[in-house]
Amino acid sequence: MAAAVAAIPLLLLLLSTQGVAPVLGFKRRDFPDDFVFGSATSAYQYEGAVAEDGRSPSIWDTFTHAGKGEEGGTSDIAADGYHKYKDDVRLVAETNLEAYRFSISWSRLIPNGRGAVNPKGLEYYNNLIDELLRHGVQVHVMIYQLDLPQVLEDEYGGWLNPRIVEDFTAYAGVCFKEFGDRVSYWTTLDEANVAAVGSYDIGQIPPGRCSDPFGVTKCKVGNSSVEPYIAAHNMILAHASATRLYRGKYQGTQRGVVGINIYTMWSYPLTNSTADLEAAQRFRDFYFGWILEPLGVWRLSTGSEEECWLSPSIFHRRPI
Ligand SMILES: *[C@@H]1O[C@H](CO)[C@@H](O)[C@H](O)[C@H]1NC(C)=O
Ligand SMILES: *[C@@H]1O[C@H](CO)[C@@H](O)[C@H](O)[C@H]1NC(C)=O
Repeated sequence: MAAAVAAIPLLLLLLSTQGVAPVLGFKRRDFPDDFVFGSATSAYQYEGAVAEDGRSPSIWDTFTHAGKGEEGGTSDIAADGYHKYKDDVRLVAETNLEAYRFSISWSRLIPNGRGAVNPKGLEYYNNLIDELLRHGVQVHVMIYQLDLPQVLEDEYGGWLNPRIVEDFTAYAGVCFKEFGDRVSYWTTLDEANVAAVGSYDIGQIPPGRCSDPFGVTKCKVGNSSVEPYIAAHNMILAHASATRLYRGKYQGTQRGVVGINIYTMWSYPLTNSTADLEAAQRFRDFYFGWILEPLGVWRLSTGSEEECWLSPSIFHRRPI
């Protein structure tokens, strides 16, 4: 895969209906009723308190403590959301956001990666959810945002091993069981395409694996030609497995929806030459089509006569 398609997750979508709208000239009613305005954080970028109340290290802790973070920094404190979430929820409400999405730190909820649930982790997420609901904010939960428990990376290589599917499903099951009475919007995995490429092709995010000439840094271990595909394959299986669990065991009573998210952008051909049309399609296939096709919402091109049939409405109307 080409290093040029790498992109680091863009996570913060913050649109204040009061602040931005007058400047850009659009109004709430320009958007569909079911379009939700909100903001989002991810656990490792937000919580801090990395060694508090029983949380174990994730692959991000290992990565940043090896000096591989942005400007050598860590998220040991980050936005200190573990302690300041009440202030942040108040700000979300004051900004008139309709929704807030946060991710759960797997290693805070289940420090051994599987098995016993950490009561302090459970308490934190219960408090956060209750605080959001008290302020009338719709709760969206990202189950996994790039922060695998280090213990599972050490034990079997994390996403490169199909054993991850069972452990991820069990972890997602704990989330559904404990929080699903109040959470209706679930996303299994954050930007599976970026996760696979960033972690195993260009080695820019943990566990930082790659091989020449694809890495943005020189990696000691990895194989950029095969590992991104193995990791993405296991991510898709993990998503499918957790989704099946939700639909089979929880959706009937909890009435929520579950999906996955993918980092996307569109590509347009420079001219209508066959070569340019095929190049534009190839970009889409390699950027996100390889994740979307197994989910049934994309057809990879096998020749120029193939039509792609992605509909924008899929993204917010029909959870996968
Ligand atoms: C990556 O794995 C493939 C398939 O096993 C192998 O052919 C290739 O030599 C490996 N590349 C590196 C850099 O190890
Ligand atoms: C390519 O053809 C389509 C359909 O005829 C047309 O809408 C588009 O403007 C053309 N694009 C370019 C770059 O010429």
